[in-house]
Amino acid sequence: MRSEALAIPAHIPTSLVFDYDMYRAPQLGHDPQRTVSRLLQENAPDVFYSPYNGGHWIVTRAETAVDMLRQPDKFSSLPEHNKHREFKPRMLPIQSDPPEHLEYRKPLGERLSPEAVRQLEHDIRAFAREILAGLYPKGRCEFVQEVGLRFPIAIFMRLSGAPMKDVKLLVSLADKYTRSPELVDRQDAVRRLGQYLNNELRDRVACPRSDLLTLITQSKVGDRPLNDDEREGMCVLLFLAGLDTVKSVLSFIFARLAQSPEHYRRLVANPETIGTAMEELMRLSGVSQPERGVTHDFVYRGVPFRKGDRVVFITPLYGMDDRVTENPFELDFDRPMPRHWVFGAGTHRCLGSHLARLEIRVLIEEWTKAIPAMGVENNQAIEAEGRGLVWTPKALPLVWQVS
Ligand code: HEM
Repeated sequence: MRSEALAIPAHIPTSLVFDYDMYRAPQLGHDPQRTVSRLLQENAPDVFYSPYNGGHWIVTRAETAVDMLRQPDKFSSLPEHNKHREFKPRMLPIQSDPPEHLEYRKPLGERLSPEAVRQLEHDIRAFAREILAGLYPKGRCEFVQEVGLRFPIAIFMRLSGAPMKDVKLLVSLADKYTRSPELVDRQDAVRRLGQYLNNELRDRVACPRSDLLTLITQSKVGDRPLNDDEREGMCVLLFLAGLDTVKSVLSFIFARLAQSPEHYRRLVANPETIGTAMEELMRLSGVSQPERGVTHDFVYRGVPFRKGDRVVFITPLYGMDDRVTENPFELDFDRPMPRHWVFGAGTHRCLGSHLARLEIRVLIEEWTKAIPAMGVENNQAIEAEGRGLVWTPKALPLVWQVS
């Protein structure tokens, strides 16, 4: 059902209003990256006002988005500038601005650095092989449930230290936060996740381990330890960021490979190209929609922003912007350097990108080694869930020949 559009505030020119509802647009239901890019980049202004869901701005083009994301003094991540993201305690480091942001980013940054993540490759590959060994003889799988909700999520749970027995609860809270249009529901998910994680944190203070939860209990900002709110806010963000995103990107990537047997064959025949091909696949498979709040009244590129305005960045659109990518809707493994902003831009660029890239590469490498050809069952269309902050395929039934 359509949410009710608000009256347009007087300061917004009608030329900047476009009829797009980020929770309910019909284009979100099928290949949202291509269909929403077409709709918005061909018809809407680079920055437009959507009158739905309380009314907010949306940025459709890469260069404008990157420029705005680099100006936290105007487009802030602090909750007080965006009433749609009022969470207590605030999530860290994502709801902070420079200079304190850098301090909050440090602890997780070290544990998720390229070097630290490289140490995990052996275990991640062994886990990918274990999953494939179970799936291969069946000749089919429902990828989202059997791989997307298993492979990256179990890796994340192990790294964070949260017990696997609680995975269903944690995934459902991340889903509620990510896809509920109402702020009260998102706040409820954050509150419940916070309660759960506080118990885990108390346990790590009593019995330290080598997991991310323990790391957070031992982290400092400047020369003082994090306080209880900061610990909780950092843990909550980590779980919201780590539980839904990789599953969603990975599932879109595997949908694209299954729908394009020729591209899949190329990876089977040339595994050394998977690293670059993966960037092209990611360019077409972005999922996240970060937000900022406007800090004061000003005009930017002809757009009259007001203090407290909400601004949504649809990162999946930016790699499909025809001003930065030729033939943007085509999957083309021969592009010299695919460009995308799937992991965001500016100071808040994703801290988990090295882990996510490793998981995606290893899974494609192992999958193409084990399964020489695959397709989507009955060539059916893949339905997507586009509500909210992260897009995802609803289901992905894959089939292959068993020899
Ligand atoms: C393919 C999967 C992923 C995608 C598409 C993704 C996307 C993003 C985006 C767009 C941002 C920027 C948000 C903003 O500007 O407000 C971000 C930030 C962040 N991501 Fe990811 N993410 C992914 C995986 C992960 C994983 C696996 C983790 C944790 C293990 C993680 C942890 C974080 C953290 C902590 C931040 C906040 C960084 C900061 O505020 O400085 N992400 N992510």
